[in-house]
Amino acid sequence: GGIVVQKISASEATEILKSWKELFFKLKEKDTRLASNPKDLRQIANSIRHKELGNSCCVHGIIEFSNHCTQRCLYCGLNSGKKAIKRYRMAPDEIIEAAYDNITGLGFKALVLQSGEDDWYDADKLVYIVNGIMKRSPALIILSIGERDENLYKKLYDAGSRGVLLRFETSNESLYSEFKPGRDLKGRISLIEKLRDTGYLVMTGFQVGLPGQTQDDILKDIELTASLGTEMFSFGPFIPHPDTPLAGHNASESLDLAIDTIARARIMKPDAKILVTTALETLDKEEGLKKGLMAGGNSLMINVTPAKLRRFYDIYPGRASIDMEVKDQVDKVLRLLKDIGRAPTDLGL
Ligand code: 5AD
Repeated sequence: GGIVVQKISASEATEILKSWKELFFKLKEKDTRLASNPKDLRQIANSIRHKELGNSCCVHGIIEFSNHCTQRCLYCGLNSGKKAIKRYRMAPDEIIEAAYDNITGLGFKALVLQSGEDDWYDADKLVYIVNGIMKRSPALIILSIGERDENLYKKLYDAGSRGVLLRFETSNESLYSEFKPGRDLKGRISLIEKLRDTGYLVMTGFQVGLPGQTQDDILKDIELTASLGTEMFSFGPFIPHPDTPLAGHNASESLDLAIDTIARARIMKPDAKILVTTALETLDKEEGLKKGLMAGGNSLMINVTPAKLRRFYDIYPGRASIDMEVKDQVDKVLRLLKDIGRAPTDLGL
């Protein structure tokens, strides 16, 4: 993202370069081999990713710090109409502590702080959290806290956070209003643009396979994503949650649609940074992440929420890796990346 997180000494840098030297070239070779002779949509997208961005793959951590939400989004298992769910909030100091553990202990350089739209965390509390993290263990802090006030976001920028993850969910205005009661697409887009103009690195995108969403909608979704001029894209398959109004929807095509969406977005915007989301892994536990990375994706997230809380962040069912220790998730991701010739960035080794 063009942000200096930490300055290290020349000798430390030399050590790191030395330990990477051989592996780095081996990985590059493998990636080049896998990206050659593209034949279909996904392979073409992969060869573009290879040409434009090389084999680096950002690995970010994500802490889901609260599952309280004021909104009633029809697709989401955290919507406020859902009573049969244990709600939790991490205390500000607990969040700072968890961030510290992941940044200093596991070497994460970028951390997403995600929650429902939860007003309990007012500007003062959020500024305290961001300040606290930046003081103890500086990192690229990416906020994923929903449609909050523009001034609150400005204060958090001043406190040191530099990223925002905020999807527009769908570019179809009537679907948007249907799925997000009380909200409209225009407001969402306008906030995304303001955040981008404030200087935030913005990650945005949409859900793929929503009820009523057509192929044409998806193409418009990709066009809108590309036209917003944000830093990074995030597309995920819609997964029906049994306790929501969209429970009965057949989403069996979401997985393939989402992977093809990554590929199409890569072709439309060759140098984009494109996340491969946990929802892909949820629908295909063995191969989901790999398929996304081999279809134009070049970025991943690891769930570093304290283990006891993870299962309550129930946006959709069956979330992948919620039982795995962070260390094991990191190992798994590193093995996967090695297998396909990618070099992890934003993660200490
Ligand atoms: N399936 C897939 N993704 C979902 N999200 C919310 N509910 C679901 C679901 N049922 C996504 C939204 C939101 C992100 C945090 O989670 O796109 O922006």
